[in-house]
Order: sequence, then C-alpha cells, then structure tokens
Amino acid sequence: MQKDGFNSRIGALMAFVGSAVGLGNLWKFPYMAGKNGGAAFILIYVGFMFCLCLPLMLSECVIGRRAREGAFDSFRKLAPRSGWSIIGVISVITAVLILSFYSVVGGWTVRYIVASFRAAFTGDGYGSAFGAFASSNFEPLLYHLIFLALTITVLWSGVRNGIERYSKILMPVLFLMVLFLAAYSITLPGAGKGIEFLLRPDFSSITSSVVLDALGQGLFSLSLGMAIMITYGSYLSNSENLPRMVVATISMDLIFALLAGFAILPAVFAFGFDPAEGAGLLFVILPEVFARVPAGAIIGPAFFVVIFIAAITSAVSLFEVIVAAVIRSVKLSRKKILLCIGAFLALSGTLCSVSLGLLSEFRIFGLNIFDLFDTLSSTYMMPAGAFLISLFVGYRMKRADVFDELSNGKTIKIRMFGLFMLLVKYFVPAGIVLIFLNKLGVF
Ligand code: PHE
Repeated sequence: MQKDGFNSRIGALMAFVGSAVGLGNLWKFPYMAGKNGGAAFILIYVGFMFCLCLPLMLSECVIGRRAREGAFDSFRKLAPRSGWSIIGVISVITAVLILSFYSVVGGWTVRYIVASFRAAFTGDGYGSAFGAFASSNFEPLLYHLIFLALTITVLWSGVRNGIERYSKILMPVLFLMVLFLAAYSITLPGAGKGIEFLLRPDFSSITSSVVLDALGQGLFSLSLGMAIMITYGSYLSNSENLPRMVVATISMDLIFALLAGFAILPAVFAFGFDPAEGAGLLFVILPEVFARVPAGAIIGPAFFVVIFIAAITSAVSLFEVIVAAVIRSVKLSRKKILLCIGAFLALSGTLCSVSLGLLSEFRIFGLNIFDLFDTLSSTYMMPAGAFLISLFVGYRMKRADVFDELSNGKTIKIRMFGLFMLLVKYFVPAGIVLIFLNKLGVF
C-alpha cells in the first residue's frame, strides 16, 4: 500500500498554514505588537521570521522528508544507535502537554459559538461570565470532549483524505472571514486609534526582552520545535520545493497575524477597552464588543468560528505528531491509535480544565496544572526541541545530504545554501539559548 501523504501542493500548503495559524496569530500577535512598539516590533518580528524561523522550519522539513518517518523514527533512521531520538521523546511529550490545554481552550471556542448564537436569538448580549464558565466543573469538560471528538473526526480518514481535505476547505474560509472582520472593524467609528496602536513605530519601547519575546512568538506562531514540521514534511512529495513551501507558509502566517491585528484592535479601541487583557481579550472583551456593534449577532458567532477553525487545524497537527510517532511501534490501526490517544487527552485535558476551578488550590511549583503544562511546554520543551533540531541539521547530518534534500536531488537551483548552513549552525541555536535564558529571568 502506498504511504499516506499530501496529494497536492496547495493541499500541503494549507495544512502547513493550518498548523501555524492559531491563537498565536489571532490573539497574541496583535496584542504583543501593540504593546511593544507597533511597527518597530513588527519589523523585528519579520526579521526573525525569515532569519531564524525560516532555517529552523526548513531544517524540520529536511529531516522529515529525508527520513519519511515520524518524530522518533526519523532520528533512529538518520542517526541509528545514537541519542538523537531524544528529540522525538521531547516532541511527543510537548505535543501531549500543549494539546491538553489547547483542546480545553478549543472547547471554550465551541461553547462561545453556541452561546453567541443563543444570545443572538434571545437578545441577551454575549455576557462576560467567562471566569464563571471556565472554572465551572462540567460545562467546559463537555465542550473539551466535543473539541477533541471534532479533532479526531478530521484525522479519522488519514493525511490525504482527512488533514489535507479539511485544511483545503477551512483555511480559505478562515482567510475570507478574517479579511471580512478586518474590513468591518476598521470602519467602526473610533477605529483609528487601534490602527495607530498596531502600526505606529515606537523604537523607544524596544528592549532586549521585547526582542526576545518577538523571537519566542515567532517560534510559537510557526509551531516549531515539536516535530510538527518533521511529521508534515514526511508527507511531502519528493518533487515539492521545500524552500518555496516554507517561505509561503511563513508569509501567510504573517499575513494572518497582521489581518488579525486589524480585525481585533480597532474594535477594542473603538469601545475603549484595554488591549493588554491577555486571553480575556478573546473571551471577555470581544463578546462585550460584539454585543454593542451593529450586526453583532452575525459578527459575534463569525468571530468565534474563526477562532475555532484556527484552533482545530493547529490541534490536528499536534495530534498527528503523536499518532505518527507511535504508529510504527504499536500494533494497532490508525483509528484505534486515534481513540487511545483521544482517551488519554480527554483525561489530561480534564485535569487542565478542573485546575481552573475545583482543583485551583492544587499547585506544583506555584502553578495550577493548566499553567504548569503551558509553562513546561512553551518555556522549556519547545526551545529544547528547536535547539536540538538545529544542531542535528547543522552538525550531525551530512552537509551533502542536506543540500540534496533542499535541492530535490540537485534538480532545483538552491541559492544561499551556505548562508542557510551558517544560520542553522550558529544563529539559530544561539538565538534559542538567549530566549531560554531570558524566559528564565537570567537577563
Ligand atoms: N502555531 C499555533 C499558533 O500560532 C500554536 C501552536 C503551537 C500549534 C504549537 C501547534 C503547536 O497559535
């Protein structure tokens, strides 16, 4: 049987973009850009996307397509009997940790779609009882399970008929909806302040920690450091031009982030809210905004559908990392594996969810389970994974093999290969170490 994989260039690109575009673009980017110097931050961010994230993403794709395996087996195959498959272990644990809380947040988006439709009919507005909802015992669990079930539904038919098929529909829909919301938002009275907040270049607010935040945000936004692009890379055809695919993914991720800024900030400013609200911006302030704008009964649900689509395509990619990593080693069908992992995530997600309510007093290192999973994965494990991946391509793989993979067996012209290797060997690992030390508060 032929191995399952992406069938078309556009389908593969949509799956890549689907993984990359998520809450990082819709919520975190607009708010970080606004807070940290607007256009000045965006310039630095774009610089990192292309100098650091691009080589790293290419590295993941090179590993995945060369080995044509998942997170563990890629390293076992390319570096047999060595310790490098630790990268696979780190990646799978990171994926489990992130998915546990990501699917809880995904559940919230489902709940808000339902609730905002209901509010539209009863005329209640959207309410801001977010805290009461998120910390209650049963309702969030129900929506968490619904979100997991929907994620499994996408994955059920495999890579080509599941991930690719859904991404090809969902990503263009997402793009049109975000475009529409941005157009709507910038025409609200008082929107100018939001646009100014996002774009006004203020170089005085750029400090070393802002620079490192930009770097961390780039890694998160492109889903790097946890073998997602290794797994998706292994599904790419041999004729796919890797540099072109990666540049297209990064460009689209950027476009989505900027459009999200235009969709959200003008609306927030138009009604005099504080954009530095964090997660609350999406679930507390925006429902308030929607309750007040004309046509809010349509815009409200539409907005939560946007967040839901962005979240589920990212969750799918995380889930697929785990599936692809274990499928060789366990004697179970893909569908059974999906159900087993789903059952496990149902439990670990439940822990995250109840840690906001019932178990909120239970702390490890001073953090509830939700925050612990978030901190462990994004502060420690993702940078560790990204660091090791760049070392693997920079120092362990043969230079000729890397070139061969990037140039599709020397059939396409590759410019700047020397620069790519320099970045992977020195710039990328050094940048990641700096973010890591910064997050630990060393400077
Ligand atoms: N890239 C996603 C975003 O921008 C988040 C994500 C991180 C998804 C890691 C999967 C894995 O929100």
